[in-house]
Amino acid sequence: MRFALPASLLCLLACTATPLMAASGIRYLASQKTWVIDTDNTTYAVGVNERGELQELYWGAKLTRPEDLGTPHSSPGRASFDSSETNTNGEYPGWGGVFYAEPCLKLTRADGDRDLVLHYLDYKIDGTNLQLRAKDIHDNIVVTLLYRAYPQEDILRKFARIENGTRQVVTLESAQSGVWYLPRNENYRLTYASGAWATEDQLVQEPVHQGKVVLESRRGNTSHQLYPWFALDENGQATEETGRVWFGEIAWSGNWKLVVEETPAQQVRVVGGFNDFDFSYPLKPGESLETPAYYGGFTSEGFGGASSQLHQFEISEILPDHAHPKVRPVLYNSWEATEFNVNEAGQSVLAAKAAKIGIERFVMDDGWFGARNTDHAGLGDWVVNLKKFPHGLAGLIRTVNADGMDFGLWFEPEMVNPDSDLYRKHPDWVMNFPGRPRSEERNQLVLNMARDDVKEYVFHAVDTVLSENNIKFVKWDMNRHFSEPGWPDVPPAGQKEIWVKYVRNVYEIMDRLRQKHPGLEIESCSGGGGRVDLEVLRRTDEVWPSDNTEAFDRLRIQEGFTYFYTPKVMMAWVTDVPNMNGRSTPLKYRFLVAMQGALAVGSNLNKWSDQDFALATKMIAYYKTIRETVQLGRLYRLYSPRTGEFTANQYVSRDGKQAVAFAFLHSQQYLRPAPTVRLRGLGQDTIYRVTTIDDKLMHAQKTYSGSYLMNHGIDLRLTGDYDSTVVEFDAVN
Ligand code: GLA
Repeated sequence: MRFALPASLLCLLACTATPLMAASGIRYLASQKTWVIDTDNTTYAVGVNERGELQELYWGAKLTRPEDLGTPHSSPGRASFDSSETNTNGEYPGWGGVFYAEPCLKLTRADGDRDLVLHYLDYKIDGTNLQLRAKDIHDNIVVTLLYRAYPQEDILRKFARIENGTRQVVTLESAQSGVWYLPRNENYRLTYASGAWATEDQLVQEPVHQGKVVLESRRGNTSHQLYPWFALDENGQATEETGRVWFGEIAWSGNWKLVVEETPAQQVRVVGGFNDFDFSYPLKPGESLETPAYYGGFTSEGFGGASSQLHQFEISEILPDHAHPKVRPVLYNSWEATEFNVNEAGQSVLAAKAAKIGIERFVMDDGWFGARNTDHAGLGDWVVNLKKFPHGLAGLIRTVNADGMDFGLWFEPEMVNPDSDLYRKHPDWVMNFPGRPRSEERNQLVLNMARDDVKEYVFHAVDTVLSENNIKFVKWDMNRHFSEPGWPDVPPAGQKEIWVKYVRNVYEIMDRLRQKHPGLEIESCSGGGGRVDLEVLRRTDEVWPSDNTEAFDRLRIQEGFTYFYTPKVMMAWVTDVPNMNGRSTPLKYRFLVAMQGALAVGSNLNKWSDQDFALATKMIAYYKTIRETVQLGRLYRLYSPRTGEFTANQYVSRDGKQAVAFAFLHSQQYLRPAPTVRLRGLGQDTIYRVTTIDDKLMHAQKTYSGSYLMNHGIDLRLTGDYDSTVVEFDAVN
């Protein structure tokens, strides 16, 4: 059960003399013109200063007496070059007056006026929701700031609705979701993740200096290059286990931007929202635009604490099954085994083998439709190829179901090959600038999903296949980014809306498909991890972190991924060796790496030996006994693959009764023993039965106290190259 006090009760409590120690919720301190948003362990406060501006007053650990914040007052200016307006922590500053830092809103009116100064108007509290409205000092341009507190997860959401109440068109040039301010300090360290195709989620840490660091996507989707998440810690001192960390995340699957800025007054602020690059959004009189959600959180328990907050938040608030979180089924995907060469007979053989090792969901990847024999043709024609599937998909699905598995199917709905019936019929449906080149990548073009006719076509194409077949799962792919993003069918002033409307229409299709096909699950894939964010995760049950399935590379990709996303959604396939980089690791190592997320198999089972089948059967059966702990529990990253030759991760179940620790040795040198693995998150006095899948425990003792395991730890006998093990701890008292 979620804990949320009714607003009336909160008001009652707020009016008593006792400070609101443990309560979470939102209240208004009228005498201080201040709103206080409390989660279980954090406080956020915003007030109205003497000029009438909304001003952030505090963000951090919970204040037992927020009244101490006093009456909001703007910060002083410094000379004629640094105004008070810029030095003050404006909650949603417009670009206007003397403000010159990164604004939350910048616009141009039809008559050319670009000045925007927002002053507080009114507020509304509704349970864990707060609305603050501000209005331009001159015009009826109104911004509603919408807040929601997630008390148990210590997360806050903010976003903005911008309304044009004037009689002229107002064109938005930068529409941000909001800004987070940190306590004044010039020694913050920024942590973020960068990457590329097959190299996703690489962590970067650097000091923050005066100026701006821009993290962004200009590519139409979330992107592999940078991820819409940041963390800041003081003096670079936070560790995995300790230290104060502020973090935030923009929830948007299109062009997003995060600007980490330190002002000359040593104020660090992080503005986030729609990317303003090539952005222009005209609002006619009466029209409005909502920005993406911007989530923020604080912890004093280091990066591990920050990740854990996000994981629990995603599981209990974001994912489609958040009301009743389930574990992910063990999946088989045919892509690396058969690529485009799919047919009923071949897939049926793979399905029978997959069922035998304990697979629960069989997914057929690319190649089943139209003239799709290579990546040169067929995209867009979502009609089953009857030469490959003489009984339609129904024949294969019957076999898969008879083998005890459910069936999933690959789509790439937003794309078209020029060599396709769809493109021949509707060449105008792709984004393009008339008369200019249409650049292909992977021989494909991007449909203009911002067009409602294209949206309807795509919805009906996917819906038809789902309606005619017993399909429980869609792998939704997107294998290139935007180029030449023209939308010639709308007046020039509105053409740049393509960046926003495209994404909203994709969301709408996913929502409608889920609504029409209850129980349908979706995976978000974009050539690996190109579309992973908190908004797509509202409508997709899992994501594909990377096309790189090489187990050693995966350790780092998976580590970075878990900084912001839960292992529950992290699809991890066991595939064949040598992998894309030529490396070969033992099958056991590959299984154990993949078992740290949502386990799947993508190997060519036709090439497996009897020993491979036996090992896979054992590992999958074992995984099913620990997957609830891995997917829904608390992750502790014990040894990072970034810092040495040894990696270890531990997961503790929600009820604390089971823990599992995975350990991986890269390459042993000079007979050096693996480091002792000191566990975390156990009960000091609890006795744990220790079991393992192999013989890597140095000491064969069967039970240990939590105190011993967390203070002394266990020693493992890992030797040579790519050795690995998993150890399980079950509470016995
Ligand atoms: C992308 C995906 C792969 C596979 C192929 C199919 O690259 O990331 O997993 O689905 O497309 O073409």
